[in-house]
Amino acid sequence: MSRRLSVAVVGLGIGRNHLQAYQALPDHYRIAAVCDLDSAKLTAAKVEFGAGAGLTDYAELLAMPDVDVIDICTPPSTHRLLIERALAAGRHVICEKPLTGSLADLDAIAAAAKTARGTLSPIFQYRYGNGLQKLKLLQEKGLCGKAYLATIETSWRRDADYYEVPWRGKWATELGGCCLTQAIHAHDILSYVNGPVRSVFARAATRVNPVEVEDCAAVSIEMADGSLATLAVTLGAAEELSRIRFMFEHLTVESRSTHPYRIGDDPWHFKGKTADIDRKIAAALAEFVPSEESFVGQFVRIHAALTDGKPLPVTLDDARASLELITAIYHSAEAGVAVNLPIAADHPKYANWMPAGRRWR
Ligand SMILES: NC(=O)c1ccc[n+]([C@@H]2O[C@H](COP(=O)([O-])OP(=O)(O)OC[C@H]3O[C@@H](n4cnc5c(N)ncnc54)[C@H](O)[C@@H]3O)[C@@H](O)[C@H]2O)c1
Repeated sequence: MSRRLSVAVVGLGIGRNHLQAYQALPDHYRIAAVCDLDSAKLTAAKVEFGAGAGLTDYAELLAMPDVDVIDICTPPSTHRLLIERALAAGRHVICEKPLTGSLADLDAIAAAAKTARGTLSPIFQYRYGNGLQKLKLLQEKGLCGKAYLATIETSWRRDADYYEVPWRGKWATELGGCCLTQAIHAHDILSYVNGPVRSVFARAATRVNPVEVEDCAAVSIEMADGSLATLAVTLGAAEELSRIRFMFEHLTVESRSTHPYRIGDDPWHFKGKTADIDRKIAAALAEFVPSEESFVGQFVRIHAALTDGKPLPVTLDDARASLELITAIYHSAEAGVAVNLPIAADHPKYANWMPAGRRWR
């Protein structure tokens, strides 16, 4: 077994789920510290997760000599600065989505990461569901053929209580709405499976809650390989559901996990166009070895990268693809035009994807 890494988790909302995952991997990680501005959350987490230290001061955390990994789970608008400081302190960094609030910020931290001693790992834990990993195996084996169409639905529910947390619902602090905060995972899966996006036309609306950011969106996409995709997002569903369907030349794939927040997990359904393709799918899936899922799945893979020289499971290019799609969705919804990718530094929304006046058209 390779080296155990000591980790500190900063931000104790979803950070508590990260801590549970580290706790489930005692041979891989030791929880060295927890950090939050809220001392009640800090005390509770320190005790519950047996953390070595509980700190409100990030600078003090960075000065701890025995921390290998800083895991940032604070609100989106704080990410860039906390990442830069942790990289400058020579630490490996893990950071929640969205990694930054603009492509300009992302390119700046990517440049910092290039010369840093530590690595930077964006979180996309939905990738590590075994259902989705089965599809990746079928793709690797060349069984899917040409991609035709993907349909991705994120129908979740957020009520007034969700927006009682002050940073949510506002452009300045949440940096976006349902496309950035909730559906970002399912949309990442589109790029993960069908490759880069070429063009986006989006409509966005705020209909469910009295917030600044969008809570409904309908997006039409052309991928670089010529296949098409639709993204449908709402935070106003009575019954929560996430669903992905991929139609390929040789088979159709559908996520059938009933848990809205575990879309990549089994069961996924694979249906070939002929009995022969069905036999090949069954033979390929017989070789599939299930692995850890969700945060545990991503942290096991990060550990392998940091200790055994394996590639990082999610890269800064993956985070950039995700934020390029976000930039394109917001620009298209604001301007009413199709937006082509890639988005470079001369694009008008490169430094700030927020719609003018913080409103859709
Ligand atoms: N991957 C996922 O499935 C997932 C799920 C939920 C949230 N998130 C992301 O995680 C991040 C946090 O979201 P949340 O819902 O947990 O928020 P939250 O408000 O519930 O928790 C954030 C915590 O960070 C603390 N904090 C803020 N600034 C800090 C600082 N400078 N130093 C130390 N602590 C600080 C706050 O006191 C708070 O306790 C967001 O980027 C969000 O999009 C990801």
